[in-house]
Amino acid sequence: MKPQKFFVVMAMVVMGVVLLLSGCSPPKSEPVKTGTIPDGEIDPAKWGQVYPLEYDQWKKTADGKPVGKSKYKKGFDADKVIYDKLSEFPYLALLYHGWGFGIEYNEARGHHYMVIDQLEIDPSRLGAGGVCLSCKTPYAAVLEKELGPEYFKMKYADAHAKIPKEFQTLGVACIECHDNKTMGLRLYHPAALESFKFIGQDPAKMSRQELRSATCGQCHVTYIIPRDKDMKSMGLFFPWQGSKPGDISMENIIKVIKKDPNFYKSEWGTGEWVQKVTGFKVAFIRHPEYEFYTRNSTHWNAGVACADCHMPYIKVGANKISDHDVTSPLKTDMKACQQCHTESPEWLKNQVTVIQDRTVSLMFRSGYATAVAAKLFEMAHQAQKDGKQIDQKLYDQAKDLYLEALYRVIYINAENSVGFHNPSEAGRILGDALAMAGKSEALLRQALTKAGVEVPANVNLELAKYLNKRGVKPLNFKSEQELQDPFGLQEMLTPAASLGK
Ligand code: HEC
Ligand code: HEC
Ligand code: HEC
Ligand code: HEC
Repeated sequence: MKPQKFFVVMAMVVMGVVLLLSGCSPPKSEPVKTGTIPDGEIDPAKWGQVYPLEYDQWKKTADGKPVGKSKYKKGFDADKVIYDKLSEFPYLALLYHGWGFGIEYNEARGHHYMVIDQLEIDPSRLGAGGVCLSCKTPYAAVLEKELGPEYFKMKYADAHAKIPKEFQTLGVACIECHDNKTMGLRLYHPAALESFKFIGQDPAKMSRQELRSATCGQCHVTYIIPRDKDMKSMGLFFPWQGSKPGDISMENIIKVIKKDPNFYKSEWGTGEWVQKVTGFKVAFIRHPEYEFYTRNSTHWNAGVACADCHMPYIKVGANKISDHDVTSPLKTDMKACQQCHTESPEWLKNQVTVIQDRTVSLMFRSGYATAVAAKLFEMAHQAQKDGKQIDQKLYDQAKDLYLEALYRVIYINAENSVGFHNPSEAGRILGDALAMAGKSEALLRQALTKAGVEVPANVNLELAKYLNKRGVKPLNFKSEQELQDPFGLQEMLTPAASLGK
């Protein structure tokens, strides 16, 4: 071979390797097939008779993972300790006081536990009714079809009792991600099928790589439960109107939340709960992994899908399959990352921890700043009760900024990767939250001073009040689970004495 020709060939080989490494289109693994699956078959064991390898891995989401692999997502490791988010991030207990999430709010466990966790959690979390089952059981779609809108409003326990006995604790099943005939990926949940259209995407026309994220995006998204005038649930949808694929912004989500309530045929609007400390009627944001990850993150823009990191290829005997034991990539020693990255597991893990430490520090800054503003609203409302005049203009402006900050804090605290899925977006959102909460505090201080109320330099957050004796169990602050500011600076802003823990 002439040297020039050799270089051309070598360049093509290198390009091929680069393309392979870029992960845009991972090679498909060949399923081992030994039968057919009837239409509408929900029982994973039946699918497992045809695809035993994937079924065996899928069952492993019931098992605790090795202890000590992940700094922030211990979730449900082999030590079986359940992590209480309100103890990890105490400001959340104050901010969520007044509703279910302020009573019991745990770190995620494996897929096996999604219904079991609902059955075990404080009943206040299931107040919305049957609708709560919507992304927890494959039977939700069946119940919705059989019972119509009644299903959403019925009591959680009544809806749950309609699921056949042997499947009452079944979590995500094969049918929710796979077509039974082709085994290709597809969407299954009614709310997802409808909501992807808000961003101009037809679930029936999605590419394989799109589906390797969108199947997860059926549940790992935020949603709104519109209510009727009696506050009964009427259904659910994702607040994605006005957004685009790869660009579902926090700002657009807030816009939908704040829209005219009639838009959702609900007189009650999207205010789902009353925040006790401020008395404000507000909405909530849940696990927005899909929105957050797909918003121009480096990995999303490089064509990487959720399944690339959470369902990497593994070898079982002579077969290569997608790992259906869905979990944190840290708990499988970064093997998922090594499909594309050549660095060592230690290096890769350090990248994750560095990102998460920085995110956690900003979660503390913005979370506590928002909690301080909430306490100032409490003072302002007390002053009004005492007959003092609070400047309405200052108050309104402070309230606006406060709610903007609150939704941002909820968003990142509800997103489960602690910043990793989109580090710079986490920084942007929490930086905005911090600025907004700070400005809200300044305006409230001015309004209170004008009204003749003296505000201490460090407002007492009285956290013990919100952290202890929660719910029917009752739950208390677990100080051993409290996360520490990785950079040790929070003390400068909210000194320990002012936390009231
Ligand atoms: C949360 C979604 C999800 C669930 C639930 C799920 N799978 Fe999969 N499955 C996937 C993804 C993603 C792939 C990769 C598909 C691709 O890249 O084309 C896959 C691939 C497969 C394949 C192709 C071979 C392979 O391993 O890549 C088979 C067979 C399969 N799954 C069987 C099952 C069975 C059986 C169940 C139930 C026990 C199940 N799956 C549950 C998401 C899911
Ligand atoms: C039917 C809804 C649903 C679908 C579809 C779904 N998830 Fe989940 N996922 C959940 C719920 C609910 C939990 C929390 C379970 C609990 O703690 O009870 C969870 C937990 C997780 C966890 C944490 C597990 C752990 O070990 O702590 C990961 C990671 C995860 N999901 C990733 C994915 C990925 C990736 C996909 C797509 C391939 C996906 N999920 C599809 C609902 C779903
Ligand atoms: C580039 C790799 C990568 C991609 C792509 C990715 N994740 Fe993750 N994900 C991670 C890492 C790393 C963590 C942090 C795990 C930890 O701290 O233990 C994480 C955490 C999570 C968690 C919490 C895990 C737990 O144990 O509680 C969930 C849920 C999750 N991801 C879902 C998703 C979904 C859904 C998508 C797609 C919308 C996605 N991820 C895309 C790498 C990825
Ligand atoms: C399917 C392929 C793929 C997987 C799996 C994958 N990555 Fe990446 N990663 C990429 C690509 C492509 C880039 C962008 C590279 C570039 O532009 O230089 C990237 C970039 C990064 C960066 C730099 C990000 C930035 O914002 O500059 C880090 C850190 C990283 N990956 C860590 C991880 C970790 C940790 C995992 C596993 C949890 C992982 N990656 C999984 C393909 C992948």
